[in-house]
Amino acid sequence: MVMFQTKFGIVVMMDSLLEVACLILVTGAAGYIGSHTCVSLLNAGYDIVAVDNFTNSKPEALSRVQEITGKTFSLHSVNMLNQEDLDAVFAESNIEAVIHFAGLKAVGESVAQPLRYYENNLVSTINLCKSMQKHGVKKIVFSSSATVYGAQEQVPLREDMPIAPVNPYGQTKAMIEQILRDLAVADEQFGAALLRYFNPVGAHASGRIGEDPQGIPNNLVPYVAQVAVGKRAELTVHGGDYDTPDGTGIRDYIHVMDLADGHVKALAWVMNHTGAEAFNLGTGKGSSVLEVVHAFEQASGVRIPYHIGPRRPGDAARSFADPTKAQRILGWQATKSLADMCADTWHWQSQNPNGYGE
Ligand code: UFG
Repeated sequence: MVMFQTKFGIVVMMDSLLEVACLILVTGAAGYIGSHTCVSLLNAGYDIVAVDNFTNSKPEALSRVQEITGKTFSLHSVNMLNQEDLDAVFAESNIEAVIHFAGLKAVGESVAQPLRYYENNLVSTINLCKSMQKHGVKKIVFSSSATVYGAQEQVPLREDMPIAPVNPYGQTKAMIEQILRDLAVADEQFGAALLRYFNPVGAHASGRIGEDPQGIPNNLVPYVAQVAVGKRAELTVHGGDYDTPDGTGIRDYIHVMDLADGHVKALAWVMNHTGAEAFNLGTGKGSSVLEVVHAFEQASGVRIPYHIGPRRPGDAARSFADPTKAQRILGWQATKSLADMCADTWHWQSQNPNGYGE
């Protein structure tokens, strides 16, 4: 039996100190991948502190995380460009590790507004790392992206291939990976898992949380889902003349709950390891645009009208992961099929045609 007094004078008794759950700071917690990962962290027994500035997300997502898990946590509406506000979050909680999702993420927008992307994504991360340093927090899981590989001809993509991002958004991901590698060199106790996501899709099985893009979706599956629910007339397939079996682009779609589970596994790894390691989080299996359209039609029972348009500048013909490093080192593997991804996306979209609403 262990007894200790809190700063409020309350005596706490417990069988073992190990029963104190590990407290994790989640930045960008209200976003698409952040909110799903919060569910998995809470269900795995972690306590969390959520930070978001709601630029591209809604507090309602986190209310629903609490509803799904039956657990509560504190939420701080913080702009991470403000070092003092971020420091205050560290000062009031005993944070042991960070999962860092916060960042701007639209490829096209990053080409049009490079300074905004570099400033927001890099300065917020540098501030986060300074706060971590000040408060002795040495463990981080970072939301990187397969976009760091750039336009590689060779697939599957492996973590030891050279990285060559082709837009400012991808550059910020690559630069943050480098910052974290440098911190791991400077401090031998520092540990970082750099998670390179392929194409996250799907939603929590409850249909209560999911992807809620602002405006016209840039990404395939949210666009298809909006066509299915009647918000958009038809899909434009960006290119039908690629050197692929049906002429359309091939990507490695991964269910967001598999991805969330990957974060829980990466967190467990990083708590016990030092150094910075990149891990691909993908299924290792590519699907074409038309395969996704047909899988979505099957899952929803709705026909998806489409026409073939020109190629989208900057798109690769095919991109899919070699996920064996994550399997070997983190003990993680994707389990859900394209049919599951489409069924769960449809469940979310049909129950929430306007996302989280206003
Ligand atoms: N596509 C269409 N029509 C659309 C949207 C997409 O045909 O309306 C096609 C694309 O050409 C591509 C495939 O669907 O072949 C997937 O496109 P997405 O935009 O959904 O995804 P990307 O692979 O282009 O990019 C995604 C994320 C990036 C991330 C990248 C990592 O959007 O943020 O994966 O590889 F960096």
